[in-house]
Amino acid sequence: MALFTVFGNPIAQSLSPQIHQLFAEQAQVSLNYSRSLTSPAQFSRAVAAFFRSGGAGANVTSPFKQQAYQLVTHVTARAASAGSVNTIVALGHGQLLGDNTDGYGLVRDLQRLGFDLTQLTIVLLGAGGASRGCLQPLLDAGAANLVLANRTLSKAQQCVEGLEHARLSVASLAELENQLEPLQQPYLLINATSAGLHGDQLALAPAIFAQATACYDMSYSPNPSLLTPFRQQAQKAGAPRTFDGLGMLIEQAGLAFQLWHQGIELDTRLVHQRLQQQLQ
Ligand code: ATR
Repeated sequence: MALFTVFGNPIAQSLSPQIHQLFAEQAQVSLNYSRSLTSPAQFSRAVAAFFRSGGAGANVTSPFKQQAYQLVTHVTARAASAGSVNTIVALGHGQLLGDNTDGYGLVRDLQRLGFDLTQLTIVLLGAGGASRGCLQPLLDAGAANLVLANRTLSKAQQCVEGLEHARLSVASLAELENQLEPLQQPYLLINATSAGLHGDQLALAPAIFAQATACYDMSYSPNPSLLTPFRQQAQKAGAPRTFDGLGMLIEQAGLAFQLWHQGIELDTRLVHQRLQQQLQ
């Protein structure tokens, strides 16, 4: 049976095994998809050991996406533009291909939710591996403006290096409110920080949440009746609508599944429905 895993820290909460099982049932293939908890110091050894033992593919989540980019032997154009990898494909003879399906997953999910990106400013919070994968795909999808806002401004500046674009700007979280005011355009606030994974809230003025068209958390809660910390913060501040990243997770997983099982057609909508039922 083909072996797959997801590397992350924390990882116990990951729904990726359940999602890939649903895709496998749909595609009528059998697979074994596990969770792998590792540390920054152990990450490259853990990946090497997994593929030596016959692993066919792996997903990589926070905080290892940039380390994964350094470790693979080949990268797709998507991963190269992101400088970060969330999907690894074993090519044989120790060769590993790194791709990044996060941006595709985010754009697909925003479209599924009915957002017209061409009419919106996207405010992306965080400048780590999760954001990197989404910048170019959001621009390619026609986002009217894209503001990358991070607690540490220099990290946001590093993130956009090489992405020359008139619709792209950076801000520190502290300055975000001033930067949004002159835009006079509806904005979608997207959380790509890892704050919630540690139970932290973001140091953002309540008005930033309240004035957003909607607030979207790339993180998700494995229990639909429990909101993620970002959604709790946004709702408390008066955000009109909030979403979590479960849909993005499913969409990015669908593309990863297709990379591992070439040529297979999938219906991600069915997996959305089945997963919602399973989580009730
Ligand atoms: P990931 O792969 O999830 O993106 P990462 O590469 O470690 O993980 O990046 C984490 C991001 O979350 C960073 O942008 C970090 O901000 P800094 O660059 O200032 O460190 C952001 N982050 C984490 N905790 C945060 C918090 N409590 N408030 C604001 N931003 C936070």
